[in-house]
Amino acid sequence: RNNTLAAWLRCLCLVDLSAKVQQSNCLGGLQRLSAEAGGEIASHSGVGTTNYSSNSQCYWQLDAPSGKRVIVRFTYMDLESPNDRVTLYDGLTTSSEIAVVSANDSAGYESPKFVSSANILTVNFYSNSQFARKGFRLQYNATVSANSSACGPVTFDDASNSSGMIVSHPGYDQHSLYAASMSCSWTLPSVSGKFYQLFVGNVSLGNGDCLSVNQGTPAEMTGGSPNVTLCGWKAVTDCPDNRNLTNSTGEVVSHSGVGVSYYWSNVMCEWYITAPPDHQVWLWFSYFNFGDGDYVKVDRIQYYGLHSYFAYFNKINPPLPSVYRSKTSAVYVKFYTDGAYSGLGFRFHYNFTQISCQGTGNVTATKSGGFIFSHYGLGNSPYGNNMDCYWHISVPVGQRIAIFSPGRFITQTNDTMTVFDGSNSSVVLLRTSGRFTGVVVSSANTATLRFITDSANTNYGFQLWLKELDSGK
Ligand SMILES: *[C@@H]1O[C@H](CO)[C@@H](O)[C@H](O)[C@H]1NC(C)=O
Ligand SMILES: *[C@@H]1O[C@H](CO)[C@@H](O)[C@H](O)[C@H]1NC(C)=O
Ligand SMILES: *[C@@H]1O[C@H](CO)[C@@H](O)[C@H](O)[C@H]1NC(C)=O
Ligand SMILES: *[C@@H]1O[C@H](CO)[C@@H](O)[C@H](O)[C@H]1NC(C)=O
Ligand SMILES: *[C@@H]1O[C@H](CO)[C@@H](O)[C@H](O)[C@H]1NC(C)=O
Ligand SMILES: *[C@@H]1O[C@H](CO)[C@@H](O)[C@H](O)[C@H]1NC(C)=O
Ligand SMILES: *[C@@H]1O[C@H](CO)[C@@H](O)[C@H](O)[C@H]1NC(C)=O
Ligand SMILES: *[C@@H]1O[C@H](CO)[C@@H](O)[C@H](O)[C@H]1NC(C)=O
Ligand SMILES: *[C@@H]1O[C@H](CO)[C@@H](O)[C@H](O)[C@H]1NC(C)=O
Ligand SMILES: *[C@@H]1O[C@H](CO)[C@@H](O)[C@H](O)[C@H]1NC(C)=O
Ligand SMILES: *[C@@H]1O[C@H](CO)[C@@H](O)[C@H](O)[C@H]1NC(C)=O
Ligand SMILES: *[C@@H]1O[C@H](CO)[C@@H](O)[C@H](O)[C@H]1NC(C)=O
Repeated sequence: RNNTLAAWLRCLCLVDLSAKVQQSNCLGGLQRLSAEAGGEIASHSGVGTTNYSSNSQCYWQLDAPSGKRVIVRFTYMDLESPNDRVTLYDGLTTSSEIAVVSANDSAGYESPKFVSSANILTVNFYSNSQFARKGFRLQYNATVSANSSACGPVTFDDASNSSGMIVSHPGYDQHSLYAASMSCSWTLPSVSGKFYQLFVGNVSLGNGDCLSVNQGTPAEMTGGSPNVTLCGWKAVTDCPDNRNLTNSTGEVVSHSGVGVSYYWSNVMCEWYITAPPDHQVWLWFSYFNFGDGDYVKVDRIQYYGLHSYFAYFNKINPPLPSVYRSKTSAVYVKFYTDGAYSGLGFRFHYNFTQISCQGTGNVTATKSGGFIFSHYGLGNSPYGNNMDCYWHISVPVGQRIAIFSPGRFITQTNDTMTVFDGSNSSVVLLRTSGRFTGVVVSSANTATLRFITDSANTNYGFQLWLKELDSGK
């Protein structure tokens, strides 16, 4: 019976405590709240279950006693991004923005802590006239700044110094903020034959404050991680400005701090890379570091307009050190990050390469058959202008070669495919343009194929089937 009573009391206690958290919903206009009392701001009373109203416009002013600062953190986020948003301002006016936060993702959204520089922080929620989602919830409180700008200690867990921890400042454990204008550095001694594994956790930095972890010099170990710099939060999205690329060569990076600082959570960036019609986009990665759940995807834009997925990379499926060829003249690139762990991003380079013939040179026909394709990208993009390609086909001496067109031979009238009997271009077996269906057979064991295109108009191209024939057939 005692147990039952205790459990019942504990339950009542919890209900009572959570009921004490003051929640202020958007009701239009301005609400002033005491930050020190702590509480929650929400888009509306049904956060997480119903949609907020369109055309919402609310302000909250969070006041802390002088000497303290206001600290806020989102605990739920689902806004029609980027139109509907929450803006945090430093102080009483809207002149100094701390962050604009807007993300569609409600699951797993991990918010940084945002802190005012003095004792007031202003919050604005805005939604436009279209579409709504399930809203946001923001927790607020007041906090103290550290009394001194002393740096935190390095503490070891055991006498052999094999593991330990570094904290930013002495008040870290008491949840106090570090001071302004601090500069600290910690150097871990080099231990012969060993290397350090560092885990960076629970980072909460003010706007413009940075934490760097650098490899020692000289690096005793090769293959270690690159230097890492984490800086305080700015906006939630950080997509590069230029998203329509038409230069014949260039590079694409996930974010401005690629390789140095982590990209933001809940980002969706898109790029279009468009080459001239007789070119293809080739791309290769020189850097790739992703968190779970984040990806970069490259779609072909086919000449009949469809997107089709052609390369997809994430943490467990990183790019190979090879060149990825689009087979099409345009591609669409999407970089997506979820609300959880992020990474240091990606960098890839691209160029435009003129469409060329595929597999030219010496080709051996076999009894089981084989193919010749007019160009690299057949089926995805038309062949190029000004191509001039040869295929030298052979079978064992005494045998002959059959060359079939399955009927999908399509070129423009001025683009020609010629089949020569033998290994030079003197005896013509077939010269054709347009659409061709049929078979030609060589008189001996070699044949030559040539495909010439002019400078205007291209078409689908061709696929020919080759077969070694026994003599006499
Ligand atoms: C505000 O911070 C104080 C001190 O850390 C804590 O006791 C209190 O629970 C917090 N309130 C809220 C609503 O988070
Ligand atoms: C949010 O979702 C809308 C559609 O509901 C979409 O148009 C928009 O691009 C999304 N924003 C982001 C940043 O993913
Ligand atoms: C919430 O808004 C979305 C569009 O943003 C809509 O698809 C959905 O039906 C709405 N839900 C409710 C309960 O109105
Ligand atoms: C700062 O100093 C005051 C007075 O010396 C003290 O009461 C307070 O606890 C200190 N705060 C921190 C975070 O160390
Ligand atoms: C561990 O580190 C402390 C502080 O740097 C140092 O005084 C001590 O000698 C170290 N112990 C070992 C076993 O290296
Ligand atoms: C980091 O935060 C988590 C959750 O708040 C806590 O369990 C953990 O002890 C913290 N780690 C450090 C090193 O403070
Ligand atoms: C890493 O940082 C150290 C110290 O600042 C510097 O000497 C070294 O060149 C850096 N390494 C790289 C790869 O940037
Ligand atoms: C980029 O190109 C795409 C596809 O051609 C187009 O829909 C989009 O409006 C362009 N964006 C900009 C900013 O030029
Ligand atoms: C494209 O190339 C021109 C000329 O080389 C250069 O000025 C421009 O900055 C390039 N644009 C991009 C996006 O790289
Ligand atoms: C494009 O880049 C690839 C890989 O670096 C290279 O093999 C190819 O020759 C380049 N094409 C052009 C036209 O520069
Ligand atoms: C192609 O075949 C010809 C004649 O058999 C030979 O001379 C030439 O070296 C071959 N070329 C290649 C690239 O194999
Ligand atoms: C073929 O070439 C002739 C002469 O150069 C030109 O008038 C005609 O338009 C071309 N036809 C096509 C389909 O390119």
